[in-house]
Amino acid sequence: MKFLYCFLLLSLFLSCSNGSDSKELKSGCPKPNVFKYLNPFYLKDRVVSYVRKKFFDIEILEDLVENDGYTLENHYVETQDGFILNVHRIPFKGNKLKSVVFLQHGILGSSVDWFITGPNKSLAYYLADNGYDVWLGNARGNRLSKNHTTLDPKKDAAQFWDFSFHEIGEIDLPTMIRYVLKLTDQNDLFYIGHSQGSTAFYVMCSEHPDINQYINAHFILSPVAYMNHIYNPFLRTIAEYKISTIFTKLGKYEISPYHGFIHGFLKGTCTYGKIFCKNFILLINGNNPGQLNKTLLPKIFSYTPAGSSTKQFIHYLQEIKSGYFCQYDYGEKENLIRYGKEVPPKYNLSNSISDAFFFIGKNDWISDKVDVDRLFNEIRSNTKEIITIEDEQWTHLDFLYGVNAIDWVYSKILNFMNDYE
Ligand SMILES: *[C@@H]1O[C@H](CO)[C@@H](O)[C@H](O)[C@H]1NC(C)=O
Ligand SMILES: *[C@@H]1O[C@H](CO)[C@@H](O)[C@H](O)[C@H]1NC(C)=O
Ligand SMILES: *[C@@H]1O[C@H](CO)[C@@H](O)[C@H](O)[C@H]1NC(C)=O
Ligand SMILES: *[C@@H]1O[C@H](CO)[C@@H](O)[C@H](O)[C@H]1NC(C)=O
Repeated sequence: MKFLYCFLLLSLFLSCSNGSDSKELKSGCPKPNVFKYLNPFYLKDRVVSYVRKKFFDIEILEDLVENDGYTLENHYVETQDGFILNVHRIPFKGNKLKSVVFLQHGILGSSVDWFITGPNKSLAYYLADNGYDVWLGNARGNRLSKNHTTLDPKKDAAQFWDFSFHEIGEIDLPTMIRYVLKLTDQNDLFYIGHSQGSTAFYVMCSEHPDINQYINAHFILSPVAYMNHIYNPFLRTIAEYKISTIFTKLGKYEISPYHGFIHGFLKGTCTYGKIFCKNFILLINGNNPGQLNKTLLPKIFSYTPAGSSTKQFIHYLQEIKSGYFCQYDYGEKENLIRYGKEVPPKYNLSNSISDAFFFIGKNDWISDKVDVDRLFNEIRSNTKEIITIEDEQWTHLDFLYGVNAIDWVYSKILNFMNDYE
């Protein structure tokens, strides 16, 4: 079973993504009748241009949001190490502003995750409808934050992609949060994070305990810090074996970049080959057919995966194997140079003291209850609570795309938040 997962997912990545923006069509992607058109280059160009034209109709995000009846503001925030992050804002509706809310996406995700399911479904619109000033972060390296003052993501790949969730938590999050507070002239905000959005949050609190004073309360959907009880058979398996060899094959520094062809391909297969598309989600996430609106899949796959660094994945794989929530492990020799000791320093969870609300699913293949409880016990919030979604099948991604997410998750977040107003 493990090997089946491994094989299927790897073959998908290896065949359709080589980690660069190469336009080449690799074997394994849809291959029409080779005998008919003998020239492979002709064939390749035809297929690529067809798929591009047919499916690569990425709408401008402002238009998408405007069509939904909301406004999207673009903000660009520069970090101390030169990354230019695209932060989105969806201003509140109605006449009374409540607090600012900051939402942070998971790995391979982007700010789009928070509004892709549309009005009366998505968390960003729901919060805006209810009077909150909604801000959506984008971590370095995703398709919206793939920009730098001096480094080029392709030419300077080795330097540009040399980051994991450590840098996202240590640098990106506090930079974005400070920007938002300054611009809105607020003293604090609510933080909502999904998956890596929680990992980076706890890195931030560990490295910058002063940030706690700006966090009214934090809401975590699928908390991820400790990972050694992860269920996902694919990730467990590759964590066991030679991590780096597999991952360098996936793309030397960048994984699943935002790539016109891949998205066209995914969108196309989601439109015409729902089985492939469903299985792709199943491999990563597990299955909850009742919560997955298949009509939305082509739209979701137009924006996701949004890209991340190889190092982000390796850092997570290290945690699956080690059972620690700690900085990146470079090996004993380099650890000594970087950290002054042979093992990487652990993050200090007692530095997280703002009120905490965890939302967990019973069928979450990434975030396991045992790991979540360990994290929950180590943070030092005065008020903290774990809310388990009642659905037996609730998965990692249902927090973003679940048909009943408003009723089962978002309305509860809103109730908690209203208590602070
Ligand atoms: C969303 O819900 C509100 C009230 O429940 C309704 O008035 C509105 O038409 C809905 N919008 C969409 C796009 O379904
Ligand atoms: C990167 O940021 C610079 C400075 O804000 C901007 O001029 C440039 O257009 C951006 N490039 C991309 C690809 O977004
Ligand atoms: C699924 O998504 C489509 C397209 O947005 C929408 O019209 C439909 O109502 C959704 N179905 C459910 C069950 O939410
Ligand atoms: C972690 O932080 C707490 C309080 O912020 C401090 O008392 C403790 O010494 C720190 N632990 C380590 C190992 O640095």
